[in-house]
Amino acid sequence: MNVGIIGIGYWGPNLVRNFYNNPKCKKLKISDLRQGRLEYIKNLFPDVSISLNPAELLEDKELDAIVIATPVNTHKSLALEAMKFGKHVFIEKPLTDSYDDACELVEFAKSQGKIIAVGHIFQFAPSVIAIKNYIDNGKPGELFHFSSQRINLGPPHASIDVVWDLAPHDLSILLHLFGEYPNKINAYGESRWWNGIIDNAHIFMEFPSRRSAHVHVNWLSSNKTRRIMLFCSNGNFEYDETKGEEDRVIFYDKGIDNRINQKDSEKTKLQYGVGEITKIKLPGGEPLALEVDAFLDSVKYGSEPVNNGELGKEVVRILEIAGHAIKEHVYA
Ligand SMILES: NC(=O)c1ccc[n+]([C@@H]2O[C@H](COP(=O)([O-])OP(=O)(O)OC[C@H]3O[C@@H](n4cnc5c(N)ncnc54)[C@H](O)[C@@H]3O)[C@@H](O)[C@H]2O)c1
Repeated sequence: MNVGIIGIGYWGPNLVRNFYNNPKCKKLKISDLRQGRLEYIKNLFPDVSISLNPAELLEDKELDAIVIATPVNTHKSLALEAMKFGKHVFIEKPLTDSYDDACELVEFAKSQGKIIAVGHIFQFAPSVIAIKNYIDNGKPGELFHFSSQRINLGPPHASIDVVWDLAPHDLSILLHLFGEYPNKINAYGESRWWNGIIDNAHIFMEFPSRRSAHVHVNWLSSNKTRRIMLFCSNGNFEYDETKGEEDRVIFYDKGIDNRINQKDSEKTKLQYGVGEITKIKLPGGEPLALEVDAFLDSVKYGSEPVNNGELGKEVVRILEIAGHAIKEHVYA
C-alpha cells in the first residue's frame, strides 16, 4: 500500500517512522506547509517523497490512504477532500473539533465505502489490550466504574484546552473497554494558570448499563500521572502507565469473605483478607506500530478498525458536551 502523511509537526514524524518501517507500506509521500519540517524528514528518510502542497498527495492516484496529523481544526476539510479523491483516512485524535463535523465525516466515509481510523493510540497499548483480554475472559466479572487521572504540564502554546488535549486518550480507552456509549455526561472545569484556558477538569459519565466513569485531566503538574482504576464485581484493576512493564497492570481480587464461620443467627461480618494479586503479563509491541499495522490491514481487507470513526465521533460528542457543561459552571 502507498500512503501520504500530511502534517509533520510534533507527532507526524512518529507516524512517518512507523509507516516507513512497516513492510506493508511500499511508498510514502509527506506534506507540510513548512519547508523546514520536510527537510527534517528528508534527512532521516531520504527515499520519502516530500511536497509543500498537501493537494499533491490527495490528487496522487498511486496513494491508497492519507494520514492527517495536522491541528484538529483542519481535520475535517483535509479528510473530506482525501475521501473525495478516493482515499481511506487515518486521522489523528481528536477526530474533529465538533460533533456535527465528526458525524459528517463518518457518514461520508460510509457512503463512499472508505475506512476512517482515528489516532486513539491507547486502544493499541499493550496494557489496554491485556485489560480487555482479561475482561473478555470473564475473571473480573461485571464492570462497575472507571476512574482515570491524566496529569502533566500543559504545552507552552495552547490552542485547545486540557479536555481536548488529554481526555481523548482516556475516553477512547473507556469506550473501548465498556463497549457502550454514555447517556449522561457532566463536567466541571477551571482555569487556574492558563489564562482563561481550562487547565483542570473532571468529566462524569453514566452508561445505559448503569456503569459510571470519571475522567480527571490536568495541566498543572510536572509530575506526570497516567492512572486508571477499573472497579468490577470480582476485583479491581490498577493501571499505571508510568510504571515498569511488570507492575503496570495489576488485578486485585476483592479479598472479602463473608462466609467464614458465619451462622445464620449471627450478625453478618465481613472479613477482609488480602485477595489474590495478579500482575498481568503484557503482550509486546509499540502501540503506534500496532496501530499503523492495523490500519494498513483495514485498508487492505476492508475491515472495520477498533479505532473506527464511530468511536472517534463518540469521543468528540463527550468532549463537546463536557465543554458546554464546563462553560456553565466555570470560574476563572
Ligand atoms: N496520538 C497521540 O498520542 C498524539 C500526540 C500528539 C499529537 N497528536 C495529534 O496529532 C495532531 C497534530 O498534533 P501536533 O502536536 O503534531 O501539532 P503541531 O502543531 O506540532 O504540527 C502540526 C503540523 O501540521 C502542519 N499543518 C498545519 N496545517 C496544514 C495543512 N493544511 N497542510 C499541511 N500541513 C499542515 C503544520 O505546519 C505543523 O507542522 C493533532 O490532532 C494532535 O491531537 C496525537
